Amino acid sequence: MGIVVDNLQRIREECEVLKMTDKQIKEIMCRLHNDLKKGLSRADHDKATVKCWITYIQDLPNGKERGKFLALDLGGTNFRVLIINLGENHFDMQSKIYAIPKHIMTGTGIALFDHIAECLANFMKEHGVYEERLALGFTFSFPLKQLGLTKGVLQRWTKGFSCSGVVGEDVVQGLKDAIARRGDVFIDVMGILNDATGALMSCAHKNRNCRISVIIGTGSNACYVEKTANCELFDGEPDKEELLINTEWGAFGDDGSLDFVRTEFDREVDVTSINPGKQIQEKMISGMYLGELVRLALVKFTRMGLLFGGQGSDLLFEGGSFYTKYVSEIESDKPGDFTSCMEVLEELGLSHASDADMAAVRYVCECVSRRAAHLVSAGIATLLNKMNEPRVTVGIDGSVYRFHPHFHTLMCEKIAQLVRPGLQFDLMLSEDGSGRGAALVAAVACREAEQGS
Ligand code: GLC
Repeated sequence: MGIVVDNLQRIREECEVLKMTDKQIKEIMCRLHNDLKKGLSRADHDKATVKCWITYIQDLPNGKERGKFLALDLGGTNFRVLIINLGENHFDMQSKIYAIPKHIMTGTGIALFDHIAECLANFMKEHGVYEERLALGFTFSFPLKQLGLTKGVLQRWTKGFSCSGVVGEDVVQGLKDAIARRGDVFIDVMGILNDATGALMSCAHKNRNCRISVIIGTGSNACYVEKTANCELFDGEPDKEELLINTEWGAFGDDGSLDFVRTEFDREVDVTSINPGKQIQEKMISGMYLGELVRLALVKFTRMGLLFGGQGSDLLFEGGSFYTKYVSEIESDKPGDFTSCMEVLEELGLSHASDADMAAVRYVCECVSRRAAHLVSAGIATLLNKMNEPRVTVGIDGSVYRFHPHFHTLMCEKIAQLVRPGLQFDLMLSEDGSGRGAALVAAVACREAEQGS
């Protein structure tokens, strides 16, 4: 028993590096605030890590949008095609998920867009609209430098994509060309947007206080409403006072500013990733990496002889085998109960785990997810303080926030601690911002076009 207790105690000590003190969190907020300002500023934008892209979306839905719209949603583990019918009192939506095979994720841009166009055509056939000419909104959740509502140049791939010939190019054109190559469907691409922007559009549609949105899914990002006067790079008509900014905060830390809280596990996740040195904050927060961080810690403790009697398994030692959903499952067990934990460990070939091992595994999961929740909270509190509005609702989407049993509570507690006294906030689950948001952007653009004609 003594040895077992000692092992757990030593694992706890080893995990101290995964904890961030309040002082460190305040420092992170200060650095992020400076980086946001740099991203917005004309003089510093080029060197800025947090780019704060202008979205060209200034009009929120007014509820009068009507019609049938198509939407594409690319940017997480899945690709979706949607058809949305906006009526007076209804919002019908049908969608289908298509896989993006690994060889397409890392192949050529042409192959990627051809695949998307093929799925789109098949979807239109299946939904009886193959012959119709429809407007489409495109949710493309990668860093885009937007030059207009229907023009966006990809800055870098993230989240495991690396298709050649797309960085530096207009993605809307890529899609249009692929549709033209087929020549069988007639689509008007009305807008391109990021999933964070979509989440803000769709939450703002329901809740007027919603002024920030955050994605904690495969990747991590935030979008918020900024005063046009602060957006030095905005070159459109400054007739509207506000603009949506896509922060791309996942790149926070790419200049080393998070190194003082990064651990050996973070460095390992980064060097073995497809984009080393990039998306450093995202790699500490999002679904693509949390499971791997846990796995690396478990591997270390097994090798130290502190876990599983020093006996790992082939799967445990294999990169990517510990899915982020396992973290949510393990932490869903009631304290002292290890039902889900045991299932996960069995799947990993670790059925020899003792109760003490399971308690330790859970502890590691808690440290990794708590740190992620605290980093996101630091980001949200930075935006709330910067906006300095009395009450703001934050719309949040993404698998980590949605499925992790404690993320919401951890965030509420931490943000409350970090936000300037007197500022109030609510966290609201965003329901399918990528799909609804894309349709709404297309619908608003059609509405504006009709009004203009
Ligand atoms: C990555 C992308 C960003 C997206 C986020 C969430 O950080 O670069 O555009 O919003 O993931 O999907």
